[in-house]
Amino acid sequence: MKLWIIGKKGMLAKAFQRVCDQKKIAYIATSKEEANITDLEMSPDDCTHVINCSGYTNVDGAESDPEGAYSLNVQGVKNLICLARQKGLKLVHFSTDYVFDGKKNAPYLEEDVCVPLSVYGKTKREGEVLLEDFSNSLLIRTSWLFGRDGNNFAKTMLKLMREKKELQVVADQRGRPTFAEDLAEVTLKLLPYSGTFHFANHGVVSWYEWAQCISDMAREKGHPITCEKIFPLTTEAFGREATRPLYSVLATQKIENLLNLKLNHWSEGLQKILC
Ligand SMILES: NC(=O)c1ccc[n+]([C@@H]2O[C@H](COP(=O)([O-])OP(=O)(O)OC[C@H]3O[C@@H](n4cnc5c(N)ncnc54)[C@H](OP(=O)(O)O)[C@@H]3O)[C@@H](O)[C@H]2O)c1
Repeated sequence: MKLWIIGKKGMLAKAFQRVCDQKKIAYIATSKEEANITDLEMSPDDCTHVINCSGYTNVDGAESDPEGAYSLNVQGVKNLICLARQKGLKLVHFSTDYVFDGKKNAPYLEEDVCVPLSVYGKTKREGEVLLEDFSNSLLIRTSWLFGRDGNNFAKTMLKLMREKKELQVVADQRGRPTFAEDLAEVTLKLLPYSGTFHFANHGVVSWYEWAQCISDMAREKGHPITCEKIFPLTTEAFGREATRPLYSVLATQKIENLLNLKLNHWSEGLQKILC
């Protein structure tokens, strides 16, 4: 087995590389400059699995750049399916809780109807639909990803908490944070399987509650936190370009039952990035 990890500078791709190094799993990782999935000219010869960690992930930016989001999240996936078919490779792809509208008010199952609210969510959903016609594929939806690398909520909050005295954080959106390395580990266990799965860490929070935990844990670990007060804010008052689901909790029983998994709580991942 040898993995081709695409989008090597991204948060999830870096987590994959770290986990593969630890487990001594062979891989080749490529950047956008080395292998651009919107216009694929190069692919490694000796790989068995394509792990697509690339994506147009700027949720607000996609609203004013739908073509950019489409070219990566839809055309890019189409190109990878074509290549995987030709070469007999297994294709692993990641999608998002933002394919749901958040109106269910109970955890979303893999087979629930998708009604994305944003350009990002719509393009991710279009990519999913393409994969449904390619049986040698694994689609993993995840949510609120954070890790040691890249821009993510936990790292952004930590930076702001060291600079500001007060912060305002959205309190009426709820989801399940997911530590990128846990996702990478679970994906490796899931490689023999095909189909759609949800994966997120244990624990449902609002962004506001999560920020409070980051602040408490960072203080305990001796980070120089200057922020004295975090204020809850409504989604409406925050006013982002893209509409986000208010409740995008993913149900994970399918993956837990299949792999006999005991999920880590997201706070375990948070401990690791705050050391
Ligand atoms: N982040 C989240 O909260 C979240 C939540 C749910 C699902 N997901 C999904 O999880 C996956 C990984 O997300 P992430 O947060 O790790 O992404 P990320 O950090 O934004 O990384 C994406 C990577 O894709 C690369 N890339 C951009 N255009 C490319 C192209 N044309 N060809 C090849 N690579 C290209 C980027 O390279 P450059 O940096 O050089 O542009 C970047 O390294 C995505 O499918 C995303 O939709 C993420």
